[in-house]
Formats: sequence, structure tokens, C-alpha cells
Amino acid sequence: MSTILVLISSALGEASVSNQLVHDAVAQLRLQDPALQVIAHDLGSSPIPHLNFDSATAIRGAEPANAEQAAARALSDELIDELRAADTIVIGAPMYNFGMASTLKAWFDHVLRAGVTFSYSEAGPEACSPANAQSSS
Ligand SMILES: Cc1cc2nc3c(=O)[nH]c(=O)nc-3n(C[C@H](O)[C@H](O)[C@H](O)COP(=O)(O)O)c2cc1C
Repeated sequence: MSTILVLISSALGEASVSNQLVHDAVAQLRLQDPALQVIAHDLGSSPIPHLNFDSATAIRGAEPANAEQAAARALSDELIDELRAADTIVIGAPMYNFGMASTLKAWFDHVLRAGVTFSYSEAGPEACSPANAQSSS
């Protein structure tokens, strides 16, 4: 049994092309593995908050100094746990104004944590394996 993390991020709901492509991909994966576990986020209809002072501070490693920072850290921890639990990640990434949807970027902003999910090296940023990462929580 495998687990997939599914992220869709279109603003266009039922009219979305990328959402449909992702649904089709997930249906194919289910055919291959009927016991597939699916963790899914519709970031278009249920957006993760964009970074602000409190969330950026908490996600960058400072001890949470207030309830907003604690909530932001908890959300980041939860999203990283989902990422680590997944064997496969399926991402629907529509292009809006020459870049990814800001709702999808907000997800990346919450899971990219130096020392936890990536580290800096002479060769540039590298993914941290869970074994050598600092605890996310
Ligand atoms: C607000 C907006 C901005 C867009 N900007 C671009 C763009 O910069 N480049 C491009 O090739 N297509 C652009 N498109 C077209 C979308 O990539 C296309 O409609 C795609 O199907 C969007 O994915 P979705 O249907 O899953 O939302 C834009 C569409 C919208 C609604």
C-alpha cells in the first residue's frame, strides 16, 4: 500500500484544466493500487495563508512568541508530516501571470524549512532526509 499527496491549486474550480488532469492521474494510480492512501489539499478553494511576519518568523526557526506563531509552526509541521508520509506527490500547477498559483507557492513556503526539509550546501540547497533533519516539531 502506498500513499500519495495530492495538491491542486487552480482558482477556476470546476472549470480547471489542471484539477482535471490531477484527478485523472489519481484515478490511474488507484487502478494500479486499489488500497492507495490519498492525502489531498485543494489549495484553490481552501488556501493555506500566505506568509506574514508571524508565520515567516515561526517557520524560519524562532521559538513561537505568540498564538499566531504557534499556529503557523503547527501548520508547517503538519504539512511536512504529510509530505514525509507520501511515496508519491501529484501537484496540479496552473500557470498564472508567468508563475505558479500563489496558493501553491504558499504551500511551498510552509514546507521549505532550512535544517528540516532542506539544507544549504556548497552546491546549493539540498533536500534533507528525515534521518538527518532537525525535528519539525
Ligand atoms: C489569471 C490568469 C493568468 C494566466 N497567466 C498565464 C501565463 O502567464 N502564461 C500562460 O501560458 N497561461 C496563462 N494563463 C492560462 C492558464 O495557464 C490556463 O488557463 C490554465 O488552464 C490554467 O490552469 P487551470 O485551468 O487549472 O486553472 C492564465 C490564466 C489565468 C486565469
